Amino acid sequence: MQNFDYCTPTRLIFGKGIISHLPEVMKPLGKRILVTYGGGSIKKIGLYDKVMELLKDFEVFELPGIQPNPKYDPSVLNGVRMCKEHNIDVLLAVGGGSVLDCTKAIAAGAKYDGDPWDLISYKVKAKAALPIVDILTLAATGSEYDAGGVISRTETNDKIGYIDPLLYPVCSLLDPVYTFSVPKRQIAAGCADAMNHVMEQYFVEDTTLLNDGFCEAEFKSLMINTRKCLENPEDYTARAEMMLCCTYGCNGILALGNSESGWPCHGIEHALSAYYDITHGEGLAIITPRWMKHILNDRTLPRFVKYGINVFGIDSSLDKYEIANKAIEETYKFFESIGIPMHLRDVGIDESRISEMAHHIAVNEGLDHAYAPLSEKDIEKILMDSL
Ligand code: NZQ
Ligand code: ZN
Repeated sequence: MQNFDYCTPTRLIFGKGIISHLPEVMKPLGKRILVTYGGGSIKKIGLYDKVMELLKDFEVFELPGIQPNPKYDPSVLNGVRMCKEHNIDVLLAVGGGSVLDCTKAIAAGAKYDGDPWDLISYKVKAKAALPIVDILTLAATGSEYDAGGVISRTETNDKIGYIDPLLYPVCSLLDPVYTFSVPKRQIAAGCADAMNHVMEQYFVEDTTLLNDGFCEAEFKSLMINTRKCLENPEDYTARAEMMLCCTYGCNGILALGNSESGWPCHGIEHALSAYYDITHGEGLAIITPRWMKHILNDRTLPRFVKYGINVFGIDSSLDKYEIANKAIEETYKFFESIGIPMHLRDVGIDESRISEMAHHIAVNEGLDHAYAPLSEKDIEKILMDSL
């Protein structure tokens, strides 16, 4: 087992009606709040009104309109400007992963005198950040329990995972009821994102029985509960378990003591959504089975065999390669069965920019250090196979 140093300082308040804790959570953090949100879903479900009512004794400023795959310009820049102009004490992100991620970048940018891109691009290390609280409305990214935010800069086709312990939310308020309205397409994409977070931590060289067990339970729960949420969007128990699975998915807790992964599918997908602004979870679902096929060899075989037997219940007496290939097929079939378009062409990507993207990924993502190292040629092959 590898050494590790782990601390997630985020307080999680989970369950039906827990939004009533909001004033008590915000009070010690300051009076002047910037509330950040997306394109309007929080207004449709009555959450916006509820938040404003609970914050009536605070001074509230608003940054609406944060888009999926949140953009540096205008959202991060506008948020930083507002924090400085209005002397904001604390940020409250209300929405999905995009709103949370954008808010994290704003939190760091607000405490920095230069161009916030210096921080996101790791040119400068942030010394401080404003505190962040969030109310999550979409189970997917795990941003509510991790120290990262992913920011897109359209003019350079960059989509950067900006990670810094300063960006952990102080508190995440998680009420599964606010996810009842998440549309089917986003339920499926959220599931694929969380499944892939677990895979990125499961397919590694050194692991433990404990971590494998956590990951296998995550895979099974995500698949079962996604189907339930699709069948009955108001199934509280399924939405709740889905939310918790996603919260655990991305902060490293599933891989403590494991060797490095390199997060290859994320490295590849971030370029797809940077170049084509596609939905992150869909891009991952398309790439994952092709990546699996590409890296299957005598060295990686035992991981695929374990995954096939323990997650999909494939007959352990079969030939090992047969088990591995069936496991990859089951992964594909599961994503397809929940309605995910399984080809890049289905989400508007053709071969015209594949070699350019492969080069961008190879230069920027360092996937030659991954569990199964990927060269530019490997990345290009995976993308071509995904068409
Ligand atoms: O903008 P609004 O109107 O709120 O609508 C959103 C958006 O259109 C909608 N939505 C959210 N909650 C809803 C709802 N619609 C109805 N009812 C609700 N309760 O869903 C759409 C997608 O929202 P978004 O926040 O973009 O989705 P998600 O949570 O999947 O976030 C995706 C972003 O997170 C990044 C991705 O790359 C992508 O940019 N990631 C962040 C990570 C992290 N911080 O650790 C890790 C991930 O790997 C990922 O890269
Ligand atoms: Zn992801």
